[in-house]
Amino acid sequence: MSAPDQILVDDQTLKFCPGETILDATRRAGCSLPTLCHDPRLEPVGACRSCLVEVKGQRRLMPACKTPASPGMQIETRNERVLRHQRVLLSLYLSDHVGDPSECEDGAPCELHALAKDLGNLPVLVPLQRKHKPRADRNPFIEFRSERCIACARCVRYCDEVEGVNAITLTGRGLHTTISTASGISLYDSTCELCGGCVDVCPTGAMAEKMPLSAGAAPERELEKVRTTCNYCGVGCQMDLNVDRAAAAGRGQVVKVTSPPAGTAPSDGNLCVKGRFAYDFIDHPDRLSTPLLRGADGNLHPASWEAALERTAAGLQEVAKKHGADALAFVSSARCTMEENYLVQKLSRAVFGTNNVHQCAAT
Ligand code: FES
Repeated sequence: MSAPDQILVDDQTLKFCPGETILDATRRAGCSLPTLCHDPRLEPVGACRSCLVEVKGQRRLMPACKTPASPGMQIETRNERVLRHQRVLLSLYLSDHVGDPSECEDGAPCELHALAKDLGNLPVLVPLQRKHKPRADRNPFIEFRSERCIACARCVRYCDEVEGVNAITLTGRGLHTTISTASGISLYDSTCELCGGCVDVCPTGAMAEKMPLSAGAAPERELEKVRTTCNYCGVGCQMDLNVDRAAAAGRGQVVKVTSPPAGTAPSDGNLCVKGRFAYDFIDHPDRLSTPLLRGADGNLHPASWEAALERTAAGLQEVAKKHGADALAFVSSARCTMEENYLVQKLSRAVFGTNNVHQCAAT
């Protein structure tokens, strides 16, 4: 008799925790199962059918992402019946998708093409003549590529269950089902907060980023990912800067920001509009690279940091002497580190003797 917390997967005995699905238990054990509509942050819906497995005693194949593990379950994930199902399913998806993987992956990696490649030997079906009208949207960040949508609704569920925004939905019927906003309005006119989570979770690039730097970049898998902490506020969201090492005459350039996997603390793979899309300031030509000092001619001129700090100190001292320390006020930023903010209040209180100090995250 099997233990109360064990299942048998492809002759391997695995433990499961209460409430876990077959997929949870197999993934925790390091076994791979194909998925397209699954995301650990979302309620499973079993929409894409790519994770179907054979469960002894069940007449039909069962979705691993949605079927709770139960004691003594005997599961086959790679027998002939399951593999035949996967081949037919992926062929059907591909007959309704961009055929050429390199053309498809001009933005994010396509999970559908990756699964098809892993499986190999797919029957070639006649491509469907699905006619999607181009879905232009005047927002500057997110592009709809309706022809790539496989109607898995991962983006729709993310927008609803994680963001609580409900800005996008599946529209149309049958072959014409695709991703859009309700009534086809612009994301700008919807409740969308432009967080880009839909772009992040989409397995096929049907929701894509349209920032100019990312549009001209190498495929995402060829970019170097550098994990860092977003500095737009104090939450500490983790983000991956995607660096194209060959860009900017070999200096390297950040061409995209992507989320780390769900489960990464503290932000669980979520980002806001600023964290995900406001990265082009890094190499922006308007960005100051040296201090500027106003000269006797009234114009600003590049100067050294020493000269700029000296001029600043002299100006602050002059005001304090003439009008008293409380004529000064120091404003810091939530984008600075704790240590930098500490130093600003120390400068204000200890050096100039005023409590006129503020920081935009302070209440
Ligand atoms: S991942 Fe299980 S049905 Fe889509």
